[in-house]
Amino acid sequence: MVVVVVVVVVVLVVVVLVVDVVALLLVVVLVEDVVVDSESGPPSNDSSSSVSADVVGVAACVTGGSSGATVVCTPTLPTSVSLVTSTDTVPHAAVDTTSARSPATRAGRAAIDRTVPVARLPVRSPTTDNLGRVTGAASSAVPAGRYDNHPFIQACRGLPHDRVPVWFMRQAGRSLPEYRAIRGTGTILDAIADPDLSTEITLQPVRRYDVDAAILYSDIVVPAHAVGFGLTVTPGVGPEVERPFRHEDDLARLRPLDPEADTPYVLETVRQLVAELDRPLIGFAGAPFTVASYLIEGRPSRDYANTKAMMFANERLWHALCDRLADIAISSLQSQIDNGASAIQLFDSWAGSLSPAQYQRYVFPHSQKVMDAIADTGVPKIHFGVTTGELLPQISAVGADVVGVDWRVPLDAARERIGNDKALQGNLDPTVVFAGAEFACEAARDVLRLNDGHPGHVFNLGHGVMPAMDPDVLTEIVKVVHEEGNVRS
Ligand code: CP3
Repeated sequence: MVVVVVVVVVVLVVVVLVVDVVALLLVVVLVEDVVVDSESGPPSNDSSSSVSADVVGVAACVTGGSSGATVVCTPTLPTSVSLVTSTDTVPHAAVDTTSARSPATRAGRAAIDRTVPVARLPVRSPTTDNLGRVTGAASSAVPAGRYDNHPFIQACRGLPHDRVPVWFMRQAGRSLPEYRAIRGTGTILDAIADPDLSTEITLQPVRRYDVDAAILYSDIVVPAHAVGFGLTVTPGVGPEVERPFRHEDDLARLRPLDPEADTPYVLETVRQLVAELDRPLIGFAGAPFTVASYLIEGRPSRDYANTKAMMFANERLWHALCDRLADIAISSLQSQIDNGASAIQLFDSWAGSLSPAQYQRYVFPHSQKVMDAIADTGVPKIHFGVTTGELLPQISAVGADVVGVDWRVPLDAARERIGNDKALQGNLDPTVVFAGAEFACEAARDVLRLNDGHPGHVFNLGHGVMPAMDPDVLTEIVKVVHEEGNVRS
């Protein structure tokens, strides 16, 4: 009898052990699925965000015996994550996108209960920049902007779509008679401070050209102006600074940007646009180098002599300035995305004045910090500068999903320099517009030919629309791109 009891007890102990081991194995397999799927998924432009902490939290709250079908877990997370196995697919529409549209702050967003398909949760650990500082720390998961299936967003991600998307840098502005009619006489900063006017100005080129994206009517110097640095934008000239940035003391004139308090008009414009548009809105910011060049030179410059003198002679002050400008760009971009922008462009228009070594040392870490900080949002990130042919691999490595290419580098050569996994934007020489519709449309066809149907192509000019351009020629270019552009699947 005693022997029988002992045998039964031993058998029971063995059974319990086996069940525990099986449960443990299931948990391990489940967590590995999450990691593997997220690592092999699309890069930083995925709709879900890079939150290694979330994955750890999920693993921690899965209890033994669970089959891994669906586990709802809240304890260690700011968000409640509904887990599905990696083979399950959740229609993208099921992802709550309200936070991308609401004026919620980052902290507010984190409190929103959200359902995220785990198969799309990437794991991204904080990265270190050239200066050894931690950048891009993990933060809360944010769904992608709207219009995930729009050709513009698909092209930014290099995914199949049915027509080549096109928009123009500086599509709003003085080339349009309807702009000149409503712009008023104040500086552009006054116009930007009026959300109704800015909304209308942003919509004008969308209506006229039927471009695939709107770009917010604002300017790269708006945040510096808003924190009281003391600048204006002179018509026909550009940004001008009363007291240019020269000394350590000037850092105090660049306090952090609080977008809700400092630029409420920009966010109101973004919200109005998102409510009115039936296509993506591109938000933007100036990259630290290009904004710094205005603050240091005090006006547009040809050689950036003062800017480069400061970076060479006072590297510590240069990095301190760029670090502040990076933080300002991050706050600005994040707030535009929070309010519904579907993509962003970081303008480093004048970075082409630097050699690759100079760019790497003085500029790369700061632009990378900006791109890293907003990678979690999942919206496509475009990065653009003029005369950056020699810098294209670096401009790309900063963290862009889409690399803006000016007209000096043919698209096929640009792709060789950057690699096939990034989308390109560009790159019709803007001056062909002055040669008339026939010539300009033929040049547009050349750009399409050089792209050869690659799905990662957003058609654009190699730089902005100029005030004297005939908008009718731009209309013809849009037609050619839409009707004749082909996209390989
Ligand atoms: O349609 C759009 O692209 C929308 C908005 C936009 C403006 N500026 C409006 C604007 C954007 C994206 C910018 C970015 C910007 N601003 C850049 C980067 C883009 C680039 O062209 O490389 C730069 C370098 C600036 C600085 C700046 N602001 C310059 C050089 C100028 C031109 C000065 C002039 O009058 O020719 C500005 C003023 C400005 N920003 C205008 C517009 C439409 C000009 C017109 C006006 O005063 O109404």
